Amino acid sequence: MDIEALKEKIRSDIGREIIFFEEVSSTNTVASHLAETAVEGTVFLAESQEKGRGRLGRLWISPPGLNIHMSILLRPRIKQSNATLLTIMAAVACATALRGITGLDVLIKWPNDLMLSQRKLGGILTEIKTASGEVTVAIIGIGLNVNIKLDAFPEDVKKTATSLRNETGRVYSREEIIAGVLNEMNKWYAHLNAGDGELLLSEWKRLDSTLGKQMKVGVGKESFAGVAESVDGEGRLLLRLPSGELKSISSGDLTELP
Ligand code: BTN
Repeated sequence: MDIEALKEKIRSDIGREIIFFEEVSSTNTVASHLAETAVEGTVFLAESQEKGRGRLGRLWISPPGLNIHMSILLRPRIKQSNATLLTIMAAVACATALRGITGLDVLIKWPNDLMLSQRKLGGILTEIKTASGEVTVAIIGIGLNVNIKLDAFPEDVKKTATSLRNETGRVYSREEIIAGVLNEMNKWYAHLNAGDGELLLSEWKRLDSTLGKQMKVGVGKESFAGVAESVDGEGRLLLRLPSGELKSISSGDLTELP
């Protein structure tokens, strides 16, 4: 990773400070440890992670020199109940930047998956600290499969994952993608802090791959089937159940039903 080249491409407050590691346990974990002292917008970036974390306790495959593993430290002025909007913001920033740079039809699967050709290209793991119902610190972890070959994934991941290189045969500049994501995120973050989540949600709806489709949503030990109808102002998924009830879901695992 060429950090100087990366810094030259960043035009936003987010990413003005970059803390780079050749290897870490997890950039989210390191960011969490340094959250008190690091300035807002600091990006923790690693060539590889030994214990990259995905959602629901899953491992995030993070070999050196191929992909993007980074965590962004923010101190948003939003309520805890709006925290899903942070993940949606990051997903919109990633999808927009990737579409602009690659020309590929990168989409979002609510709330945190970046999809390409119906396979997972990346994911977002947002972790927050709160006080009195307000978010005090948010760590937005982003993992993007850029130049990894499919063979390098474990068998179970191979079935559902992809990378930019896998789709096109090309090798991409990670610096360009990181800068693109941070520059985009800066814009959406300003909207969010100004209390204007509406524009973000309408952009999300444009990039979402699930709206209007029959989905199964796993929420803890429960699961619900229905049509993904929309998201509400707090970023929750609105699922229309067969009974006609509209169920709002703040976190869950989505699978498309045939
Ligand atoms: C998911 O889709 O399950 C979320 C994956 C998030 C992975 C990123 S890689 C950088 C950051 N550090 C971590 O340990 N996880 C996130």
